[in-house]
Amino acid sequence: MANKTHIHAQWSSRLAFMMAAVGSSVGLGNVWKFPYMTGESGGGAFVLIYMVSIALIGLPILMSEWLLGRLGQKNPITTMSTIAGRLKRSQAWALIGVGGILAAYLILSFYSVIGGWALAYIKYSVTGTFSGLDGDGVSSLFGNLLGSPGRLLAWHSLFMVLTIGVVAGGVSGGLERAAKLLMPALAVLLVVLVGYAATTGSFADGLAYLFRPDFSQLTGDVWLAALGHAFFTLSLGMGIMMAYGSYLSDDVNIGRTALTVVILDTVIALAAGMAIFPVVFANQLDPAAGPGLVFQTLPLAFGGMSGGILFGSLFFILLVFAALTSAISLLEPIVEWLEEQSPLSRLQATLVAGAATWLLGIATVLSFNDWSGFQPFGMSILDLLDYLTSKLMLPLTGLATILFVGWVMGRDEVRAQLNMSPTAFAVWRFTARFVSPIGVAIVFIFGLIN
Ligand code: TRP
Repeated sequence: MANKTHIHAQWSSRLAFMMAAVGSSVGLGNVWKFPYMTGESGGGAFVLIYMVSIALIGLPILMSEWLLGRLGQKNPITTMSTIAGRLKRSQAWALIGVGGILAAYLILSFYSVIGGWALAYIKYSVTGTFSGLDGDGVSSLFGNLLGSPGRLLAWHSLFMVLTIGVVAGGVSGGLERAAKLLMPALAVLLVVLVGYAATTGSFADGLAYLFRPDFSQLTGDVWLAALGHAFFTLSLGMGIMMAYGSYLSDDVNIGRTALTVVILDTVIALAAGMAIFPVVFANQLDPAAGPGLVFQTLPLAFGGMSGGILFGSLFFILLVFAALTSAISLLEPIVEWLEEQSPLSRLQATLVAGAATWLLGIATVLSFNDWSGFQPFGMSILDLLDYLTSKLMLPLTGLATILFVGWVMGRDEVRAQLNMSPTAFAVWRFTARFVSPIGVAIVFIFGLIN
């Protein structure tokens, strides 16, 4: 191992690597998607299944992606085909990488539209739009934004331009260094918001909603939603973590680093929930309001607290920042793939991939207004894209990844990568071979026939 030749530079330190991983995982998934899915799924039972999925399925798959990346030292497609080739296994394993590129494209197309909402909300907070608004006021503010395809398109375009700019400018490294400061700042602001939520008089209701499971709410679809969100929030099943793993130096402890990332990601999501649901109940709002939930609750908090303009502006700026560090991790693999498959330069590949994603995003933009009657399979375009990616593609590629590490790779090779105590490794391997794949399979079958 000592004289392994690296094809590229490695992360300067464990911290730099962690910031990149946290930057990818912490994003709109935590602050926007987790609360609204919790609300749509009836609260605590969803949260419980989500946390169990994170621990038993998300964590082992995150570790698997990193160890594969570190072994393969290339992009996910080449990595899978090299390792499978060395083990004399089918090249079909490289499909994990291919599926990931497609999923990244679909996810980024709507991610950018929601990132655009967050940009619009920076403007609203800076200009003091929230002060004095009541529940109806925030709803109509949000409704007006959704009802205007022109404005949505402009914000979506701005978000996409920012993402393209970062990827094309090759400044992702700088962005990750900035993340060292800004991610903790986002966490601090969430704590401030939880503090505000504690003053609304409905804090206990909010906490009970999040943490007291009502198992009558547990349908197959809720299981599948919780599982899918575990993949989404940790950026799994898409090869992006595998790509990051290729930069991981041999002395970094994969298990400990993965556990840290998983805990940070989960704590941020739970804090967002604890900030939002008390405000929902204090204002008699609907927890199942859907994708607009964060944008219809936090402005009430900012409008009601002292220093709300400052806190609100800071919050949405930091949210956009967190969304950008995730969005670049979605665009990057598409760009790398395109660069490899075509004669395009890096800049051209970034522009083409960015433009193609922007174009698909217009479908999401229009789904809130001009095309709102168009409901393929009874779902909105946002829900359909989410279904295809979070509930189908990510769990399937994730399942393939964990099966590969658990059953195809040799025990000793995996063990050398993970460098755990014998007992910890035994537990890990049992989870990777049985618990995770069976868990994914059951939830999958259960959710799809539902
Ligand atoms: N995890 C990010 C979030 O929670 C979104 C994201 C970034 C993602 N890269 C990904 C999701 C790869 C799935 C796969 O906002």
